[in-house]
Amino acid sequence: MMLEASGRRNRIIVLDDEDRVRRVIGLQLEREGYDVILAESGDEVIAKLSSDAQYDLLISDIRMPGVDGHQVLKFAVENVPDMPVIMLTGVVDIETAITVMKAGAFDYLVKPVRRDDLMTSVEKALGYGRLIKYNRRLEIENRKYQLELEEEVNARTRELSEALSQLRVVHMDTVRILSGAIEENDPYIRGHGNRVRHMAHHMAEALGYSSRELDMLDFGGLLHDVGKIAIDPRILNKPSSLTPDERKIVETHPLVGERIVSKVSYFTQIVPLIRWHHERWDGKGYPDGLQGDKIPVSARILAIVDSYDAMTSDRAYRLALPTNRAIDVLHQEAGRQFDSSLVEVFIREKTYELHFED
Ligand SMILES: [Fe+2]
Repeated sequence: MMLEASGRRNRIIVLDDEDRVRRVIGLQLEREGYDVILAESGDEVIAKLSSDAQYDLLISDIRMPGVDGHQVLKFAVENVPDMPVIMLTGVVDIETAITVMKAGAFDYLVKPVRRDDLMTSVEKALGYGRLIKYNRRLEIENRKYQLELEEEVNARTRELSEALSQLRVVHMDTVRILSGAIEENDPYIRGHGNRVRHMAHHMAEALGYSSRELDMLDFGGLLHDVGKIAIDPRILNKPSSLTPDERKIVETHPLVGERIVSKVSYFTQIVPLIRWHHERWDGKGYPDGLQGDKIPVSARILAIVDSYDAMTSDRAYRLALPTNRAIDVLHQEAGRQFDSSLVEVFIREKTYELHFED
């Protein structure tokens, strides 16, 4: 006798409208140690299969009054797919045999059923049923495992991306503090780095920059004048025009800034922005006299917003220009100091209307 994995005996339904056939088959199976449930109508079996009870095999007659074997088989295949069905046929009828096998029966036996044939078929069917159930269990466990794994990967990804975005905020804050500290020495440029950063970001968004490129531009905006830290504040805040020597000193700040920033590997990409934020479209800028599109776009953007913010802020040597006057200057300098297509972006996107809190 074979037991189910749960340890219970295999339960077999025997359905035949003929009392004698039912009893003979039932008795033979009971002797082998199976739990047998006898049924005399298709209705009765369908009711049993519709309940929560577990059955391991159905042996069913085909020709019966009322609900016949074909209908019972169809119901079983559709509703209890893990339970094999063996069909009984009264005559050797190859057509019927093919029909029931096609409809999903596991096997068919011809009445009167020989004991050995019955047992061989029953054992095979139960083995098959066990395999199907085992496979199904594996499949479910597999799916469960896969879902758990996916959930785990998702959770880790979430954690990582949260940590990353936290890191980014901390990073940006640190750079803001640094930029603020530089400006602390010079009341005329307080908030300048932050305004430059926001205006540059605003233009670059309109140009379709990726978030990584925007980040780098943000850092570049905040740090573009970091090199001024090495310049005598008396020169930076001089209320009158600079002498040629003093101007030369001020013009070292992009190179000093480059030297400071290039020590941080994370900032490799902003080094060109710092070095070239005072280059001019016509090639008359410093420190390298780069011309036109040899100057990186981000550096060209910084040149515009840097100058605009300088013009619209009070300086030691002059008062702030009103917005429309500063825009006039941008127009005049388009194609000379500035890339005219980027001046257009600045105007079109109304970047000058951004408002800032220090
Ligand atoms: Fe500068």
